[in-house]
Amino acid sequence: MNVNGRRYRTIWLAGPDKGLVRIINQLLLPHQFETFDLHTLEDVCRGIQDMYVRGAGLIGAAAAYGMYLAAREAGDASFDEDMVHAGELLKHTRPTASNLAWAVDAMLGLLTGRQGRRAQKIEAARFAAEAIAAEDAQSCRKIGRYGLDLILAAAERKNGEVVHILTHCNAGWLAFVDYGTALSPVYAAFDSGIAVHVWVDETRPRNQGAALTAWELGGHGVPYDLIPDNAGGHLMQHGMVDLVITGADRVTRRGDVANKIGTYLKALAAKENGVPFYVALPSSTFDWNMRDGLGEIPIEERDPEEVRWVTGKTTDGRIESVRICPDSTSARNWGFDVTPACCITGLITDRGIAEPSEQGILKLYPEQRCVP
Ligand code: MRU
Repeated sequence: MNVNGRRYRTIWLAGPDKGLVRIINQLLLPHQFETFDLHTLEDVCRGIQDMYVRGAGLIGAAAAYGMYLAAREAGDASFDEDMVHAGELLKHTRPTASNLAWAVDAMLGLLTGRQGRRAQKIEAARFAAEAIAAEDAQSCRKIGRYGLDLILAAAERKNGEVVHILTHCNAGWLAFVDYGTALSPVYAAFDSGIAVHVWVDETRPRNQGAALTAWELGGHGVPYDLIPDNAGGHLMQHGMVDLVITGADRVTRRGDVANKIGTYLKALAAKENGVPFYVALPSSTFDWNMRDGLGEIPIEERDPEEVRWVTGKTTDGRIESVRICPDSTSARNWGFDVTPACCITGLITDRGIAEPSEQGILKLYPEQRCVP
């Protein structure tokens, strides 16, 4: 997508021999736009853990590029062993999104147990990582096209009046390699002249909505309003939301969805008020080994300091963090929650829109019919 008139992806290879991974430093947004270089596998792990990069698709692509850097660092005789170890390190950075493990396993499948010179293996790793990143961008583009039909239908129902879409967290292009998932249909609708407006949840504690979704939408010219995290239910009760579209970090084969904490409450409010609730995801976000999201999806618990502090820009332009609770306050910080399939209207995938049930999903993914 474009930033100040220049086209960007969120991650790419740079350096004379394409030996480093360049990212947009999301920790500085929305106040500063800067790129940041990751030179080693360790840099990539830290970049994912500390959220320089974040969002399911982007951490999947980052992990793939991390495996490429790992291949450059691996010993000749110990190549396979070093790659397996690198995969373990990456998988431990953030447990909830399936794209990360999916990308690591795809890279391992391709690179281990293989004959050939080390240089060839490194080249194969680079090629595979680039392919994973390209696939992520392509999937998101397709999601935009399928989701556009839903927004178009809503616009027709409203006789061309503005379609109000609520989203939670950031599942725009910053969370993927390009285009995004939840926001991809919004961009497609806006670009094709449909009047859209987005309600942007702030998404405490890391404020991805306030910092990232608002920045993205504003940069593209899409009208939006930032709302407190707790406002969605009120808006739905008053007929001010036509549809909800969120992203997903992991989706089970029967359609249970793990997404940023707070998604479940929005889904409950949507169900209660008859508002369609859609979840957008690329195929790499499905976890075909899981059925029961609530019982099986690992939920990341992050540093409680993220809850006790907020960071923002002061009136004189300094970026500062301030504590928002008594010094001795104990806090807990779950990053994600699970929305059961029964609260979801449909899954917008890169293969079309699936009914959120095992049967509905398998219609689009018949190759996954054999239960592992
Ligand atoms: O913790 P984050 O910022 O990596 O959160 C993940 C997400 O971006 C959201 O849960 C999003 O809605 C789905 S992933 C694009």
